[in-house]
Amino acid sequence: MFPLLTIGHVSRRSGVAASALRFYEERGLIRSERAGSGHRRYRQPVLRRIAFIVFAQRIGLTLDEIGAELAKLPPEGAPSGRDWSRLSKNWTSRIDERIAELERLKLGVTECIGCGCLSLERCKLANPGDRAARRGPGPRYWMADRPPR
Ligand code: FES
Repeated sequence: MFPLLTIGHVSRRSGVAASALRFYEERGLIRSERAGSGHRRYRQPVLRRIAFIVFAQRIGLTLDEIGAELAKLPPEGAPSGRDWSRLSKNWTSRIDERIAELERLKLGVTECIGCGCLSLERCKLANPGDRAARRGPGPRYWMADRPPR
């Protein structure tokens, strides 16, 4: 049997704000029980699920994707090494994509810091008339799209 932890304990141990823990719970990513006082109590394995959520968010998974992955784990108790191994197999390509994105961002920032040219030929910040918006949300030229010539 696992000890029951307060939301403050879980927050301190996981480094995740109590408000975020309540949000995760609303989204069905983690579960709690109610003490006689009505306060939330978590079982120890929730810390591993929260670590999973934090890591998955850092590599770019959406909360819906994270929820789908967590649904493959046992709802109570600690996931086994085999469970984690199965989940992490799908992550290699996501991590590679994230690394490539960060490399592009690094290159873009490195080129532009102290430059200020906003050259239409080579600057990833230059976006006259917001033409990049036609390609979708976000900083399109930094994300990978090539600016029109
Ligand atoms: S500001 Fe000069 S390359 Fe971006």
